[in-house]
Amino acid sequence: MATEQTYIMVKPDGVQRGLVGEIIKRFETRGFQLVALKMVHASVEHLEEHYKDLKGKGFFPGLIKYMNSGPVVAMVWQGKDVVKQGRVLLGATNPLASAPGTIRGDFAIDVGRNICHGSDSVESAKAEIALWFGQDGTISYSRAVDAWIY
Ligand code: PPS
Repeated sequence: MATEQTYIMVKPDGVQRGLVGEIIKRFETRGFQLVALKMVHASVEHLEEHYKDLKGKGFFPGLIKYMNSGPVVAMVWQGKDVVKQGRVLLGATNPLASAPGTIRGDFAIDVGRNICHGSDSVESAKAEIALWFGQDGTISYSRAVDAWIY
């Protein structure tokens, strides 16, 4: 299984509810490696670019307003199959369909306030990482315990 990178974002409601540490903990304890992180209050233009594929949807204006309502925590996580596995950790997009034990299944009930975002494919991850971290890039480092943490 290839080592990949994915873009994970704690949305404004997740930040304001104090769930940043909880979300990071779930990715860390699963064995994934944090290779970039920053807090940013994204502009409307930046968010419209991030969600450009959804431009025709009825919920698009509300989604942009919600995402622009406060800072988000933008992260890049690395590891085996992390794009797919990251979305498993997050749970289904609609929290009412998310299993208990997932982040959304444990902490959310509203699709319009679903705490977190994760890339849906390796290609999307590359584009989202470039959009959010293009200038800053990601960090490459070894962990002393990499023989045990996979
Ligand atoms: S769709 O319609 O199938 O393309 O949408 P979906 O893949 O389910 O979701 C894409 C992103 O839109 C967000 N979303 C919403 N936001 C606000 N209100 C409503 N009703 C709504 N429905 C979907 C959803 O959370 C997805 O955002 P991300 O950031 O990827 O989680």
